Amino acid sequence: HSLSTPPPSAVSKGSPVTNNILVVGAIYQDTILHVNGFPDEDEKRRAEKIDVRRGGNAGNTVEVLAQFPRITTWLMSSLGNKKVSSSLISDLEIHGVKTSTCVFRKKAVNPSSYIIHNKQNGSRTIISYNDTDDITIDEFKKKIEYASITKTISFADTSATFNWIHFEGRNVENVAKMIDWIDAKASGEGWRGSLTISVEFEKPDREGLDSLLHKVDILFGIEYGARANDILLEDLKSMARPLVILFLPGGRPLLLQNFCTETRVRSSLAIAFCTWGSSGASLFTLTTKEIVHASALPVHQVIDGVGAGDTFIAGIIYTLCRSFTPLNALKFASELASRKVAQNGFHGLA
Ligand code: FRU
Repeated sequence: HSLSTPPPSAVSKGSPVTNNILVVGAIYQDTILHVNGFPDEDEKRRAEKIDVRRGGNAGNTVEVLAQFPRITTWLMSSLGNKKVSSSLISDLEIHGVKTSTCVFRKKAVNPSSYIIHNKQNGSRTIISYNDTDDITIDEFKKKIEYASITKTISFADTSATFNWIHFEGRNVENVAKMIDWIDAKASGEGWRGSLTISVEFEKPDREGLDSLLHKVDILFGIEYGARANDILLEDLKSMARPLVILFLPGGRPLLLQNFCTETRVRSSLAIAFCTWGSSGASLFTLTTKEIVHASALPVHQVIDGVGAGDTFIAGIIYTLCRSFTPLNALKFASELASRKVAQNGFHGLA
């Protein structure tokens, strides 16, 4: 399958600009075991294939973003000590992701995941370990202020700053402060209008996550459980006022009304996106109060579903930076995520 070419009207006009994107969240070391059937407890089984690679929601999103033309990406992540992190960092740099915004801890292990990919049904079961303290508000400020003083963050267009800051929905207390701080700074310096702030709600049960709703321009809800998806989607479609609620993992309703009424209307862009695994993805727009759905591409076999949601987010960020309409962004990102699922890893997606 190839990505559909956006209609010319959806592509930004004028001179080409480079978009500066900062992604704040975790990188993991992923070990993926591809097995033919999910093991029973206490069973001993051989995997057919093993992949060891860099992962983490933020790490995956930024890796895909960095593949697009005229996009400069930074990752702000906390890792173990420099020694254990050096290969992760150099691999990111090789892939075009700037890492001067990363922070190193004293830990001798990086955040790690062991993932069982069941080839029979495409499920991916993740067991992760992370005892690395997340980025604090002070570190966030320091990295951004230091960077702008020393020009460690050298923007391609010198008058520009970040066009997009995407936060993984973790470390909520600090992230709330980061958003408030960058919002005030960007407003004071006159570039808030060209900055989009987004947050991802992969685990909506995380305490306090709702408190971020009114702070962001774009919200991503990520739904994985393939079986539950069809049911949730049907519910969503048949609801009398489907605009009020979007279902998130576990069927927990997210009150979009809060998102709508509280989201600053300055942001005419206020949008919520939600992915539904093989059922595609939906978007909800504040201005039109409409829910629109895009199907996923039919994927003959799920080769690697790890990071599909993260890829979807990258597709949306890229296309909205390039002034695609939200609907075209949704289509593009759904197709991109489908293509990712049909291949191993993230290479060659752009
Ligand atoms: C996939 C992923 C993996 C990582 C895990 C962390 O979305 O980011 O790469 O190990 O989730 O929760």
